[in-house]
Amino acid sequence: MNKSENNVAKSYAIIGFGHIGKALAKAFARKGIEVSVATTHDPESFASEAAAIGAGINPTTLAEAVEADVIFLAVRFESHPDVAKALPDWQGKIIVDVTNAYGVPPEKLGGLPSAKFVARAFTGGKLVKGFNHLGAAILARDPAVHGGRRVVFMASDDDGAAAEIDALAEKLGFAPVKLGGLSAGGLLVQAHGNTWGQLIFQDLVKFK
Ligand SMILES: NC(=O)c1ccc[n+]([C@@H]2O[C@H](COP(=O)([O-])OP(=O)(O)OC[C@H]3O[C@@H](n4cnc5c(N)ncnc54)[C@H](OP(=O)(O)O)[C@@H]3O)[C@@H](O)[C@H]2O)c1
Repeated sequence: MNKSENNVAKSYAIIGFGHIGKALAKAFARKGIEVSVATTHDPESFASEAAAIGAGINPTTLAEAVEADVIFLAVRFESHPDVAKALPDWQGKIIVDVTNAYGVPPEKLGGLPSAKFVARAFTGGKLVKGFNHLGAAILARDPAVHGGRRVVFMASDDDGAAAEIDALAEKLGFAPVKLGGLSAGGLLVQAHGNTWGQLIFQDLVKFK
């Protein structure tokens, strides 16, 4: 039985501590959920920025960060293969793909949706495309707005992983909306060459 089936607390990491990495870190800090953050640099070099976001934002090395159960990929699309090399096998891990392949010619992706292309690099891992449709400045804000919750879209070919990241999104205060698999759902929330998917930049709020 794995940790998720066993309902044991998960560990989280955000790879990339730029605009989106920091926006995600703020969401974790707001709810007091610990998360590791890593870049290509020595953790000391961004420790004060992490501390300014919250006590539970733990700067670490990439090698340590990939030990987490759930890894948010918040690097430029072009950098994802470098992150993927950090482990020979991503078995048992969930990768949340927050990248947007804007400006990447579709032929470079072999005709695949960008999330499927990323998934191929993370051998054995379960990939969820999510949290990528909002600009960093909006994602960084409290998702509790006007009495509702800001929507984030999720797509995955793995129902278990999708359910887990949905639950995490709820814990972070968002209203997750499932779009289905990576081919259908993923395409609605990705960049395709110089074209944005239909749901990108839709700042929606769910009331109930
Ligand atoms: N900005 C937005 O509004 C927005 C919105 C939605 C989605 N996105 C997507 O989110 C991703 C990140 O965008 P961003 O705007 O946050 O970019 P960014 O500000 O340039 O940040 C990228 C981060 O990735 C780190 N990084 C690069 N290569 C790495 C590697 N091999 N291992 C570990 N860390 C690495 C960089 O750190 P060092 O270079 O210091 O190592 C930096 O902290 C992109 O794919 C983008 O398309 C962005």
